[in-house]
Amino acid sequence: MCGIVGYIGPRPAVPILVEGLQKLEYRGYDSAGIALIEDNHLRIYKKVGKLTNLKEKLAGNYFYGTVGIGHTRWATHGRPSDTNAHPHRDCQGRFAVVHNGIIENYLPIKEWLLSRGHQFTSETDTEVLAHLLEEFYEGDLLATVRQMIRKIEGSYAMVILCLDEPGRLVAVRQDSPLIVGLGEGENFLASDIPALLCHTRRTYILADGEMAVLTADSVEVYDSQGQPVEKPVYEVKWEAAQAEKGGYDHFMLKEIHEQPVALRDTLSGRLSPDNQSVNLDLSLSEDEVRQFNKIFITACGTAYHAGVVGKYVMEKLAGLPVEVDIASEFRYRDPFVDQRTLVIVVSQSGETADTLAALREAKRRGAHVLAVTNVVDSSVAREADDVLYTWAGPEIAVASTKAYTTQLVAMYLIALYLAEKRNKKSLVERVAIISELRKLADKARVILENGRVIQDFVAAYKHVPSTFFIGRGLDYAVALEGALKLKEISYIHAEAYAAGELKHGTLALITGGVPVIALVTQQSLFEKMLSNIKEVKAREATVLALAMDGEADLAKVVDHVLHIPRTHELLTPVLSVIPLQLLAYHMAVARGCDVDQPRNLAKSVTVE
Ligand code: M6R
Repeated sequence: MCGIVGYIGPRPAVPILVEGLQKLEYRGYDSAGIALIEDNHLRIYKKVGKLTNLKEKLAGNYFYGTVGIGHTRWATHGRPSDTNAHPHRDCQGRFAVVHNGIIENYLPIKEWLLSRGHQFTSETDTEVLAHLLEEFYEGDLLATVRQMIRKIEGSYAMVILCLDEPGRLVAVRQDSPLIVGLGEGENFLASDIPALLCHTRRTYILADGEMAVLTADSVEVYDSQGQPVEKPVYEVKWEAAQAEKGGYDHFMLKEIHEQPVALRDTLSGRLSPDNQSVNLDLSLSEDEVRQFNKIFITACGTAYHAGVVGKYVMEKLAGLPVEVDIASEFRYRDPFVDQRTLVIVVSQSGETADTLAALREAKRRGAHVLAVTNVVDSSVAREADDVLYTWAGPEIAVASTKAYTTQLVAMYLIALYLAEKRNKKSLVERVAIISELRKLADKARVILENGRVIQDFVAAYKHVPSTFFIGRGLDYAVALEGALKLKEISYIHAEAYAAGELKHGTLALITGGVPVIALVTQQSLFEKMLSNIKEVKAREATVLALAMDGEADLAKVVDHVLHIPRTHELLTPVLSVIPLQLLAYHMAVARGCDVDQPRNLAKSVTVE
């Protein structure tokens, strides 16, 4: 949801900024822009559309300015256009600002600034920031930024460049991520680590309310009260290559193929060698675990779908009632949450605004909050009482894949942990599940090696306007994710339905040749699913069934069958989603869609 970068040092800033923006383009690609100081002028270059348009605009020019800022946009206020692109400037061209977030009270501020004679050129909320700086500036950028912050409400990570103080960059964050990269004689800023990795591994991860002042040789950080903060250096452990395509055509395909390793890494160190117990390193005492009388899982999008699986699994294993709720709904519906509720928030990025707001609401109500996230030291990780990291590595494609399967693993781990501590389920049952968990990585690899059936299906059905995904129990939970994946990147309408619910209305949409993807991995519901498949076949739908190895009879009833290796019935989601990810991927490629950067979307949604 917008990416921002900053550079100050001895090198020409433009190539560094553009390279950084390239790494952050997954956060938004409606427009891109940079600002730098050259010849005692603030120069701004921006262009609607992807970064490549900006690159074309810059091509053939030599820029020697050594301090600058950059932005790649996911539009919120104001349509994608050259004028709405960041950086934004004040009337006289002394300040340039890049911003990720939303200034919620920008309208009254804008009116006030207009009454003071300021002239606006864009429809954005961000532009008020540049004019506020202009309004307040009396020779000290840091003091002016502090004054400005007191006027604004909302979420922001921003970097400011001031013509009168060309030797420093000022940055501040509130509810949107911002990271300082520490160099030798140069320093950097970025919304996310991949933009910094080719320059440095040493970083400061700014916390809410913190402000950073960068010169080429120093970085000072202040808290929201203006007090200096001693930041610990966070040394990035993963390799820059992990955030590259590594020979794959798209990040999404690479990330789908990284799932065996991601699954293994997420389990690593958390299962006892005898498969009898799970160690999650949580702060909870056994008594506290026993005190819980309810679980709430809240998240958005794919992470929410992982939560739907979590609900099934935790209710079955931990014997507690579990509610799962979309984060943007949770906080506004007065949920029944108190000190005896365990609230689990799930977020790949750890920065999703709705999820963060739900987390805060849960804490306000006294719940114990456990975060499942993929990003170390993200906002969600910092604010939760406990964190369970998914070790999926950086996920760059907008469509979430390896984050989802590792979130599923986290759901199993939590369920098993609770079952053990609360004496639910026999040891034999828990050992059986844990031993199967260990085998998932290898079984995922088998699925990845056998993608042929999917490609044939795609070739035959790539022009369909609409599809349906059906399943029961855990298969329904996975159907939700399969449908989201398909619509998100191939733009084919896809709807997930609890198979038994079809006949209550939606069956009216099933006509000759409509593809129905039927998930049939739950042995206990096999016969019921078969009846539902027959119902859609009777309306001449084309059925692609997804089942565990050995279900030979299915082929007699449906048009195509995809098999996944057999596993414990509770664990099938980790495997059954993989063919659905591949289906969405190949459909998108066949239809000429932009797989990694689907229209209207962004990876990290830091606005509500
Ligand atoms: O970073 P988060 O897990 O909090 O993101 C939540 C959703 O925005 C995300 O899962 C989204 O639905 C994916 N693009 C779907 O592929």
